[in-house]
Amino acid sequence: MNRSICIFLIIASLLLACLAQNTRAVKYVVTNTVPNTPGGQLFDKEIGVNFTLSIMPTINEFIYKVFEETSLAQRRNVPVLNVYISEFPGYAYKNGDNINISASALDNIYRPRSVSKRLFTSLMYHEMTHVFQWHACLVQNTHATRYVVTNTVPNTPGGQLFDKEIGVHFTLLIMPVINEFIYKVFEETTLAQRRHVPVLNVYISEFPGYAYKNGDNINISASALDKIYRPRSVSKRLFTSLMYHEMTHVFQWHGNFGAPGGLTEGTADYVMVKSRIYDQASYTKPGAGKRWDEGYGVTEKFLEYCDSLLKGFTAQLNKKMQYTYSDKYWVELLGKPVDQLWREYKAKYGNKPQQQSVDIFQGISNLKHYDILTCLFSHICLNR
Ligand SMILES: *[C@@H]1O[C@H](CO)[C@@H](O)[C@H](O)[C@H]1NC(C)=O
Ligand SMILES: *[C@@H]1O[C@H](CO)[C@@H](O)[C@H](O)[C@H]1NC(C)=O
Ligand SMILES: *[C@@H]1O[C@H](CO)[C@@H](O)[C@H](O)[C@H]1NC(C)=O
Repeated sequence: MNRSICIFLIIASLLLACLAQNTRAVKYVVTNTVPNTPGGQLFDKEIGVNFTLSIMPTINEFIYKVFEETSLAQRRNVPVLNVYISEFPGYAYKNGDNINISASALDNIYRPRSVSKRLFTSLMYHEMTHVFQWHACLVQNTHATRYVVTNTVPNTPGGQLFDKEIGVHFTLLIMPVINEFIYKVFEETTLAQRRHVPVLNVYISEFPGYAYKNGDNINISASALDKIYRPRSVSKRLFTSLMYHEMTHVFQWHGNFGAPGGLTEGTADYVMVKSRIYDQASYTKPGAGKRWDEGYGVTEKFLEYCDSLLKGFTAQLNKKMQYTYSDKYWVELLGKPVDQLWREYKAKYGNKPQQQSVDIFQGISNLKHYDILTCLFSHICLNR
């Protein structure tokens, strides 16, 4: 063989070997493990394995681009990225280099069906970023809360309404989403900052009233559902709104019960308001109320005012109350006693005459259908 051709071949093969090393391409695998459930069928019909495989490399390149990771050394090495469509409560989560997506969630959330591909692609941008992002301070999921939902009164009208219009499955679906949302609103990024709740029980039972938190349990009155949830079509929305409020009680800090009750009620409303799953039109207006710790909407609007003075105020106040409550916290954060802040807040809104604190669950039925879906969807920030 001609000597120069030989040298050329050697160099060429070295180059090729070098190139091959540099590709380090990700292998994408998509598996629908539940092709016979409604959600699994929706996946096959509206989205499909091939579509998913077609968007994954594009999303992957986009993530590198956004993170400005131009060299291999900067990128997370992911030999195989598995996507499983399976059945579990929740929407989606990353687990190592796998992404699990709940078929039931697709079935519940992707309406009308024509939006399926768009919502799924959006979800994949989010979940694939978890796979490729760096996370030195990754919160281990070891403290994950287990959710249990029990309808103890399946034979009362309210119990039947719960099973028919809301259901255990739907409740289990929204709980992890709401839980993550609460952590996000409270800016609790580390385990040390979060209340450790091993098991969160929700009981549908019969008692006078609407709902209350009791330790790590939430009791909801079936009769109240029956009375309040009209027309029946608003049931899921009202129930979701209620769960934002009640679950916040479970996860918020309250200074070992030293915090004023109105402050904890206002804070629970604050998370619900942030969720946008509530009726803005009938909700308490800024400037309303007699006392800063009146609770619900009055305190919620006051907390928003304090946020406007100091970004993240409510989250910081919540963190300060991990062990104890003191009126000094207001001075520490905002430089003024709470009573003075309240006077200034009232003055800002012209010392309006006392409007009653609006009960959070009145008039909420005006919520549009898409609210709950948009909100739930925009909160996907599930377990990693
Ligand atoms: C998916 O792609 C494979 C390979 O290109 C092809 O053989 C198969 O028919 C496609 N499936 C569908 C449902 O389009
Ligand atoms: C995630 O998917 C894999 C594969 O189907 C399965 O083994 C695992 O149990 C799934 N996790 C959940 C919570 O369903
Ligand atoms: C809350 O639910 C639990 C479980 O059903 C029950 O034991 C408890 O008595 C309930 N509380 C009220 C006030 O109904």
